[in-house]
Amino acid sequence: MQRLNVALIGQGFMGRTHSNAWSQVGKFFDVPVRPVMHTLFGQEAENPRAFADNWGWRNASTDWQAVVTSPEIDLVDIATPNFMHMRPALEAIAAGKPCSCEKPLAGALDDARAMAQAARSAGVKTFVWFNYRRCPAVALAHRLVKEGRLGAIRHVRAVYLQDWADESVPLAWRFEKEWAGSGAHGDLNAHLVDMTRFVTGDEITEVAGAIAETFIKRRKRMTGVVAGGITEGLQSTDEQGDVTVDDTVLFLARFAGGAVASYEAARQATGNQNGNRFELNGTKGSLRFNFERMNELEFYDATLPRAVQGWTNLMCTHGADHPYVAHWWPDAHLIGYEHGFVNEAYDICRVLAGQEPVVPIPDFEDAYQTQRVLEAALISAQQGRPVKIDEVK
Ligand SMILES: NC(=O)c1ccc[n+]([C@@H]2O[C@H](COP(=O)([O-])OP(=O)(O)OC[C@H]3O[C@@H](n4cnc5c(N)ncnc54)[C@H](O)[C@@H]3O)[C@@H](O)[C@H]2O)c1
Repeated sequence: MQRLNVALIGQGFMGRTHSNAWSQVGKFFDVPVRPVMHTLFGQEAENPRAFADNWGWRNASTDWQAVVTSPEIDLVDIATPNFMHMRPALEAIAAGKPCSCEKPLAGALDDARAMAQAARSAGVKTFVWFNYRRCPAVALAHRLVKEGRLGAIRHVRAVYLQDWADESVPLAWRFEKEWAGSGAHGDLNAHLVDMTRFVTGDEITEVAGAIAETFIKRRKRMTGVVAGGITEGLQSTDEQGDVTVDDTVLFLARFAGGAVASYEAARQATGNQNGNRFELNGTKGSLRFNFERMNELEFYDATLPRAVQGWTNLMCTHGADHPYVAHWWPDAHLIGYEHGFVNEAYDICRVLAGQEPVVPIPDFEDAYQTQRVLEAALISAQQGRPVKIDEVK
């Protein structure tokens, strides 16, 4: 079988989820190309050799350019902060290599556009790790909408609420525009915009009424290098620095098909630890998803006699009827966060082998459309006006 030598750029939180995905995918899925965990890039202070040994990477490097351009590498997988996506991606594409990149596609719209254009003109296959598409419940929601089970969609209601960012959290890259581009917006609304575009199969044409707020405007500066989760291992000095991104962004939107939508991303929504949720209301039915109960999808079938209409809780991890699930455990033996990434690694292998993915996988072009919506919301927040997506190129 053809081998796929993967290079991973970054060894933080996403470095771990991607390492796990590449190590698991060939064990659970009948992959059409065999991923080889060839080389890990990490910063010297993070001890990439130890990370590589722990996760099963053959080689470790502190020189990302050498890794990305190495003739031995077949796929460049980027898991660094948002402003560190474009450079390795462009170098990989220039070297003719397929590239998978974490979300949001970039910290700035200009970067995202350059990445999409480069991939288009080079004809290189690209992928973005919008992993929630590959939760079986979200993939099922996509299928139900496509089958027409909801009829015409009227309302889309999406929130991604977290509560980890109190005053004790130092000025990590996620709080600096230079590194992140935006705060909760690019981090969390990016997922919501991608998921709702995917599930509805429709495009957002306009945003309006956006509000952005930064509650904590200064934070203690960090020391050292981080490699772990979102707040784990962060150490601070007594010196303070400015927070240059939002803590929360809310906005309204219209879809081409006529639906209206609301989006809300927050990092200080106390009591919501990872509240990634959406609800769709259509003329024939409705759907609700809540990542904190990710194995389930709620469905309301309004075509049933009124007397028996009600919300039904679908367990989305039983057997061959549900996307990806047959590859995992027996009926209703639940799956978790990491499985979405393994499912995505499988779809990347399928696309690279010339096969269709189980559900559509966003490439740089697709993720650029999400980035345009995010940018439109920021313009709406700054200028206090509705913004058509066509204005944002
Ligand atoms: N798909 C998801 O659900 C999800 C979840 C979290 C983060 N992300 C995305 O993944 C990316 C990385 O986030 P993370 O949480 O893993 O961050 P992290 O801080 O945990 O890890 C970032 C990694 O990049 C390295 N790095 C930092 N600055 C660098 C530089 N200048 N040059 C080279 N390497 C550098 C760090 O050393 C570390 O290895 C971001 O784009 C983020 O938005 C996606």
